Amino acid sequence: MEAEQLKAMRLLLVDDEEDFRQTLVKRLNKRGITAHQAGSGEKCLSLLADQPMDVVVLDVKMPGMNGIDVLHHIKRMGISTEVILLTGHAATQDGVEGIKTGAFDYLSKPVQFEHLLGKIMQAYDKILGAREKHQAAEYKARLAQQMIATERLAALGTLAAGVAHEINNPLAIINEAAGFMRLVLNKQTADMPRKEAFEKALEKIENSVKRARAITHQLLGSVRKNDSVLAEVDITELVGETMQLMLNETREKNISLSLDAAADLSAIWVEPNQVRQILINLLSNAIQATPAQGRVWIKVANSAGGVSIDVCDDGTGIPRENLEKIFEPFFSTKSPGKGTGLGLYVTRQIVEKLGGTIEVRSQLGKGSQFTVHIPNQVGRHLDH
Ligand SMILES: Nc1ncnc2c1ncn2[C@@H]1O[C@H](COP(=O)(O)OP(=O)(O)OP(=O)(O)O)[C@@H](O)[C@H]1O
Ligand SMILES: [Mg+2]
Repeated sequence: MEAEQLKAMRLLLVDDEEDFRQTLVKRLNKRGITAHQAGSGEKCLSLLADQPMDVVVLDVKMPGMNGIDVLHHIKRMGISTEVILLTGHAATQDGVEGIKTGAFDYLSKPVQFEHLLGKIMQAYDKILGAREKHQAAEYKARLAQQMIATERLAALGTLAAGVAHEINNPLAIINEAAGFMRLVLNKQTADMPRKEAFEKALEKIENSVKRARAITHQLLGSVRKNDSVLAEVDITELVGETMQLMLNETREKNISLSLDAAADLSAIWVEPNQVRQILINLLSNAIQATPAQGRVWIKVANSAGGVSIDVCDDGTGIPRENLEKIFEPFFSTKSPGKGTGLGLYVTRQIVEKLGGTIEVRSQLGKGSQFTVHIPNQVGRHLDH
């Protein structure tokens, strides 16, 4: 066992004989082990309640609570501690009972230091092994859970896109019918009964259609296959073009929008539409999160096997507890008329389909930064 590990061991000596304890502590110290002490069973339990220990060396014969009782309590506390009992010379019975109760082992007094040290090491080893096993099991469980979640999302994506496609047709019909009604209504004179109520109802239909459209467009955009054309793209140009699309929104709030592109940026093969959709989603989020007079900027640079794009803003930032949720479908902090909660979900789907990564860093009240890495698509499978 390494010295570092030994130093980290939390060891407790419980014995009513002060001299015995002190001698032991000194000798353990010389071997690089620090030991805590307790002079009674009661003291031992109150100490354990505050401070976890790895190994407890526990005298059985003590006034007040004896070692076996203390052991019972420790086991009932359900903490991960190994207990080594020190029994009287002729008290094998105690030792046996102790083992039945869950003690790691027992030694009979007078104990040989080296013997005790060996036992302490063994007990500590057992604790470390058990913890490692526990951690490995936890890690595995977490991984399995993540995999289920990913698969669920992937299946959901395909299904959602299918539904979105089917919904587009009735949506178009509703929209057309609403347009016709609007036309008829506009020709009516002001004395038409309940004209205003009709107008309001119509407006509701139109707004709902708009919202439903926004949803279907996002979902379809992520899986659209037919119009995907791989092209050699100058990313700086593409980003510049896309920024032009956002000028209406930035002007309205007087937000400065700027681009910082590396001079030596190499062109990469991608489907421009996909990159455009990623950028539009990230940019509109950034702009929406930024108050008037704020700043939104994009950085583009070469990165291993592709290009990395940072979309940054000095807006509201994202609360820590939301950071994991923002990529989930339909998670939105915006009012229903403003956000579908699909922007980032779809963005991540596209990025992952391209074999890239997306990361977010954010500070509440200071701003956010979304970093997308997009690999050059030439050399990757082209049949996705
Ligand atoms: N740059 C940002 N700054 C602060 N919050 C953000 C930023 N980007 C995303 N968010 C948070 O993440 C949530 C989810 O974003 P997402 O783009 O998926 O949906 P949305 O913007 O709410 O809706 P939609 O994209 O349909 O307009 C947002 O509602 C917002 O709370
Ligand atoms: Mg959005």
